[in-house]
Amino acid sequence: MPGGGGQPRRGHPLPRLLAALDSGRLHITTGCEAPYDICVIAVPTPLRDGVPDLSCVESAGRAVAPHLRPGATVVLESTTYPGTTEDLLGPILEAGSGLRAGRDFRLGYSPERIDPGNPTWRLENTPKAVAGIDPASLAAVRAFYDRITERTVPVSSLRTAELTKLLENTFRQVNIALVNELAMCAGPLGIDIWEAVDAAATKPFGFMPFYPGPGVGGHCLPVDPSYLSWQVRRELHHDVRLVSLANEINEQMPEYVIRRMEKGLGRDLRGASVLVLGLAYKRNTGDVRESPAVHIAELLVRRGARVRAVEPHADSAHLPDDVLLVELTGAEVRAADAVVLATDHDAFDYPLIERNASYLFDARNRCGAADRL
Ligand SMILES: NC(=O)c1ccc[n+]([C@@H]2O[C@H](COP(=O)([O-])OP(=O)(O)OC[C@H]3O[C@@H](n4cnc5c(N)ncnc54)[C@H](O)[C@@H]3O)[C@@H](O)[C@H]2O)c1
Repeated sequence: MPGGGGQPRRGHPLPRLLAALDSGRLHITTGCEAPYDICVIAVPTPLRDGVPDLSCVESAGRAVAPHLRPGATVVLESTTYPGTTEDLLGPILEAGSGLRAGRDFRLGYSPERIDPGNPTWRLENTPKAVAGIDPASLAAVRAFYDRITERTVPVSSLRTAELTKLLENTFRQVNIALVNELAMCAGPLGIDIWEAVDAAATKPFGFMPFYPGPGVGGHCLPVDPSYLSWQVRRELHHDVRLVSLANEINEQMPEYVIRRMEKGLGRDLRGASVLVLGLAYKRNTGDVRESPAVHIAELLVRRGARVRAVEPHADSAHLPDDVLLVELTGAEVRAADAVVLATDHDAFDYPLIERNASYLFDARNRCGAADRL
């Protein structure tokens, strides 16, 4: 569960889930053995060797197809390239059910817009884009989500809804890359990038703040834009240059952080003891998928540093083998030649870190006095 441990935060879904289970009206199963009226497919859509891997969508489609009845609705929520619902999932459902999409059953797409750990924007108050293979499918999909979310946004085609999600995440990936590149230039120019972003953000129109960091992680930003560029390359033989460039810039950030630490310390990190604070890709979550913080820890190990890490939210089973997981204490901080704040969890005792670190590199602008991005 994202953010695990401690008390549930405001807006946390766990108490509501427990109440629903207690009511006896919600049953959870790992199988797919009964007929259904609505089926929502939200399975992983990773990359394999840089190519979209839709095997989970395919196997989920094969699993639910035999139980598809006339009049039922299937909605895909997984992030994917335009055409997946109509050209891949639809035919799998039709082959496994003997029914026709549109004529016999409803088929739709509605991208997930979950922001784990965000107490303000939750499932029910985040507008939900919805699309159907035909008007009846759109109406069915919309009616379903209208009972869950405050606002649904109908989109005219499945492909447009699929592109909507890729646009949202590519927008974020590209803008983070822009500010990361500016951060790498601003420091040597003697300019504080954080102050510049905050000042620009006072403009009430035409600007949205993005902040530099040690790179992007999770299963969305490092992955989704590549779904878009893969499809454009395959079908239009064209490179989405901004995606390639953004990936390149964001991927080099962990290495840049380490170079900055070596510069700040005035030595290379071979043999040094380094404490990495935070391994999750995102503040207040335990999600270490594609995490730049994990990448920093791995690069440090490769450089010959002795690496310890503090990650209050993640299960140690998902962490790199060569990295020793420790508690955040003054003694741990004092014992390190260098400390790097890679993920700024609220659970960290920042005054303790600042009091005890002999050298601190802050990749998140959370500690006032530190050497930072
Ligand atoms: N989690 C998010 O914050 C988020 C936000 C926006 C979009 N998305 C998108 O939603 C999709 C799912 O992401 P997620 O983080 O929920 O993934 P996840 O890794 O948590 O997996 C979701 C579920 O799919 C199940 N699953 C995996 N393979 C399956 C299969 N072959 N058949 C049936 N079930 C299977 C898993 O057991 C799990 O319960 C992805 O396309 C992702 O890009 C996720």
